[in-house]
Amino acid sequence: SGAITLDQGYKNTGACKSEITFLDGEEGILHYRGYSIEELADKAGFLEVCYLLIFGELPTVAQLEEFESHIRRYTLVNEEMKSIIDGFPRTAHPMGVLSALTSALIAFNPKAVNPDNEDELYEAVCKLMGKFLVIASWTYRKSLGFPLNYYDNTIGYVENFMQLMFKLPTEPYKANPVIVEALDKLFILHADHEQNCSTSTVRMVGSSHAGLFASVSAGISALWGPLHGGANQAVLEMLEEIQANGGDADKYLAKAKDKNDPFRLMGFGHRVYKNFDPRARIIKKAADEVLSTLGVNDPILEIAKKLEQAALKDEYFVSRKLYPNVDFYSGIIYRALGIPTDMFTVMFAIGRLPGWIAQWKEMRLNKEPIGRPRQVYTGSPLRSFKEFDKR
Ligand code: CMC
Repeated sequence: SGAITLDQGYKNTGACKSEITFLDGEEGILHYRGYSIEELADKAGFLEVCYLLIFGELPTVAQLEEFESHIRRYTLVNEEMKSIIDGFPRTAHPMGVLSALTSALIAFNPKAVNPDNEDELYEAVCKLMGKFLVIASWTYRKSLGFPLNYYDNTIGYVENFMQLMFKLPTEPYKANPVIVEALDKLFILHADHEQNCSTSTVRMVGSSHAGLFASVSAGISALWGPLHGGANQAVLEMLEEIQANGGDADKYLAKAKDKNDPFRLMGFGHRVYKNFDPRARIIKKAADEVLSTLGVNDPILEIAKKLEQAALKDEYFVSRKLYPNVDFYSGIIYRALGIPTDMFTVMFAIGRLPGWIAQWKEMRLNKEPIGRPRQVYTGSPLRSFKEFDKR
């Protein structure tokens, strides 16, 4: 119909009203519930930010303690989930396993959440946050063939993640506090980003009144792609390739500019940020600090800086307003923290979970209609069916 406006990729279409995250792409501004990302990354903890995003206000000490203890209550994952994990090949990508396991959680928690019932919603949020962290770590343990770890009620949420990932049954384990602090900050920086691809997916799937877990599982699949969350893995693989080829950044810049070459400079460019990505700024500084505190001397960081400087001076990138995004430096920190490359996007998912939950909740509480875009049909006009002998 002539009345349909075509906007592929929704470049100019607002899909909802939202009170959660404010983003100004021209000015490089990002706020969660009115608080600047710089201040939150500096002063808040990850669970505090989760609470803020999901429930709208910063928690009091009592509210935060209650939230954390409620999450703890739900960190046991049904033992039968392990037989599902056993069915995957060890070589399976952790993101595929994470999406499947999140879907599998529905089978063990079949009760549909009524978002209008505060208690039910609170319980579902805590359940998902608790179990998600554990299954996220299990995707890595599976890939190693190592025994699966359980949540430790004596330590915090982010510290637990390190222990779940790295503790061996034969040895004591204590996560390095520098690493825990860096992870906490990274999770905060990833926690929400208004109507990005995975979040829009969560809202879209949820708009059919599919449950919270099913909607989040769909979001994980959307996040996996290299143009979205999968970029953090792709950046590191790109930097490693540049290193293996003698560190020639200019060659890769030329490839990225060549319209006949599908290669893009991973970790560069953003749909909304056209000046700089405030998250990238914080992460670049954190990467420097973390590497020097841990005494890691990673030549990859130097390659990344060289590449960034060259791109920022290059007419192609300048005229298209392409700047480093959140994924450009995050992988360098993850690597320094001992996180394997194919787990980088899982790290993003752990950080983004509260955003997905908050957006799902808002969409349902706002009683948004089912998402159902229109199209401009460009196929054949009506034609008569041809029998086999006429084709
Ligand atoms: N390398 C080379 N050229 C690029 C790049 C890049 N990374 N990004 C955009 N361009 C060019 C693009 O070819 C186009 O050029 P032209 O106008 O000559 O056709 C122009 O810049 C505009 O790009 P676009 O593809 O129309 O922009 P978009 O808003 O549709 O895409 C993007 C945004 C993030 C998908 C894209 O910049 C990209 O593919 N970047 C690399 C992948 C990446 O780092 N993704 C992470 C995004 S931030 C975190 C997240 O979402 O998870």
